[in-house]
Amino acid sequence: MSNPLKVAVLISGRGSNMQALVNASREAGYPAQIAVVLSNDPTAQGLEWAAAQGLPTAVVNHRDFGKDRESFERAVDAEIKKYGCQLVCLAGWMRLLTPWFVGEWLDRLVNIHPSLLPAFPGLHVQQAAIDYGAKFSGCTVHFVRAEMDHGPIIIQAAVPVLPDDTEDTLAARILECEHKAYPQAVCWIAQARVNVIGEKVLVTGTHNPDAVMNPVG
Ligand code: GRF
Repeated sequence: MSNPLKVAVLISGRGSNMQALVNASREAGYPAQIAVVLSNDPTAQGLEWAAAQGLPTAVVNHRDFGKDRESFERAVDAEIKKYGCQLVCLAGWMRLLTPWFVGEWLDRLVNIHPSLLPAFPGLHVQQAAIDYGAKFSGCTVHFVRAEMDHGPIIIQAAVPVLPDDTEDTLAARILECEHKAYPQAVCWIAQARVNVIGEKVLVTGTHNPDAVMNPVG
């Protein structure tokens, strides 16, 4: 097998998606490896887990840069390039990125969002889906563009919204599919099967449309 793709995972908190990516990367034949876990917050829970797993971790504290977002991002960029990263995965990363960073990593920067985009971008989206009366929600892995929660969609997975759902129960149901969809998306990228054509993603070699629409189904 060719060398595994080197991935930086950027977190701001709990890091359960980062854990899913790390666990997947340890499976035999998985075509990507987690080269560094980086956080903007030194107290992010996920950092401790990653360090305990023996993974390289890094902190670039956004507070050290005041309002200068681009300098902060240049420091993040320098750190992940130190590890030779070829792909950046945002996994609960709570900083908006400037067009500079997005351009630097264009089509090599992915995010996971807990709704079926373009429905419900932003925060508290599980509650928003419940309040709207949506019958399905889910998760989306997409390439990042300068506009928040926007960009070519690589994979989505859908779950039902049940009548008695609370924000927490729906979030837990969605999180379960996030943990499958994100490793699947990174696997396809590492296999060079993901092509962005006119702001749409074509995944080559997935002749079964169910595999693209619902990896957990
Ligand atoms: C996930 O729901 C993800 O979709 C969103 O932020 C949450 C992060 O959770 N972007 P975790 O830190 O990966 O557990």
